[in-house]
Amino acid sequence: MPIQTESNLIKKFPPYLFARLNAEKLAARRQGKDVIDFTMGNPDNPTPQPIVDKLIEVVQDKKSHRYSTSKGIPALLKAVSRWYDRKYGVSINPYTEAVSVIGSKEGLGHLGLAVLNRGDKVLVPNPTYPIHHYSVIIAGGQLVSVPILDGPEAFLKALFKAHAKAKPRPKMVILNFPHNPTTVSVEQAFFKEIVAWAKKSQILVVHDLAYADIVFDGYKSPSFLATPGAKDVGIEVFTLSKSYNMAGWRIGFAAGHAKVIASLARLKSYMDYGIFTPIQVAAITALDSPEENLRKLAAIYQERRDIMAAGLNKMGWPVEKPKAAMYLWAKVPPRFSKMNSLDFSMMLLKDAEVGVSPGSGFGSLGEGYVRIALVENKDRIRQALRNIKKLFS
Ligand SMILES: Cc1ncc(COP(=O)(O)O)c(C=O)c1O
Repeated sequence: MPIQTESNLIKKFPPYLFARLNAEKLAARRQGKDVIDFTMGNPDNPTPQPIVDKLIEVVQDKKSHRYSTSKGIPALLKAVSRWYDRKYGVSINPYTEAVSVIGSKEGLGHLGLAVLNRGDKVLVPNPTYPIHHYSVIIAGGQLVSVPILDGPEAFLKALFKAHAKAKPRPKMVILNFPHNPTTVSVEQAFFKEIVAWAKKSQILVVHDLAYADIVFDGYKSPSFLATPGAKDVGIEVFTLSKSYNMAGWRIGFAAGHAKVIASLARLKSYMDYGIFTPIQVAAITALDSPEENLRKLAAIYQERRDIMAAGLNKMGWPVEKPKAAMYLWAKVPPRFSKMNSLDFSMMLLKDAEVGVSPGSGFGSLGEGYVRIALVENKDRIRQALRNIKKLFS
């Protein structure tokens, strides 16, 4: 008998969709091609200097080199509480209602294991950011997929219908607004309906607020926890990756329902020793930083959005301008509509040296779309537009 190298669980993870695209990207770069890369939501701007300075200051303190605390140092959890109060008027008890996570991907990944039992059903948007699906798979749960492409009202209807139809009844729903990849965004009233329904149906709500601050044209993205009663039915997860350009630092937090937070914190205490203390302290500087910085950051993405959307529309690739998030979510252009989203993305990479993500990587209903992450500067966006235009002439 050969040694066993794959669990049944690991077999459920298809080779990462982006693997083929990444291999192609790497090959192109090896040939000296300058790929303009809009594939990942990986912010290209640097972390603000005061946050970097704080990390350097704290790392010089030899006491900071020891194991940290898995739940998050108290000063960070207090900063989370201040952050919620300042931004959303939400009161969070730092000792019982907040936990730090090693990026929200890790937090969401482990959440399923902390709160679900094998076979539990979970309502998840389709398409969506992959960990929303895989958190359920990792925990041995069953996905109940809810179409999101037609906007918030249609999503809400589909959600209630899918819940009513599913047997046994789903235990949890994972939401994410502003949504990756579709950029669908909601108003506070949406969460009021969610909270009322969740109370009635006794379903746990998990809201991923990754793009809270990447908002355009005066739009404000609501916090789920700002809805009265939300803490009784759910939690919210936030990442510092996007708002503070800290993607590589791996830090975020979850807050809300005390028992859910306690379960996640307990699981994590068996899994990790917490984020490196200097990173946790620097995260406090980030969370306490002026809102003005966030508006400047959003303005950078807004300008990129405008240039990209105007350029694509002009060449005959119809795209809409999103209200929030750092993406354009676009149908494969009409003249290439016979291609699936992966083949179209591969062609853009080969023939235009432009990388985008195929929509099918985010779920079956993402087929026919691509996601363009606005993580290249204005000049490179203009260059990408010139390259793409050649395919349209
Ligand atoms: C919706 C959403 N949630 C979570 C994440 C991951 O964030 P983190 O860097 O905190 O793991 C991303 C990253 O793209 C995202 O788009």
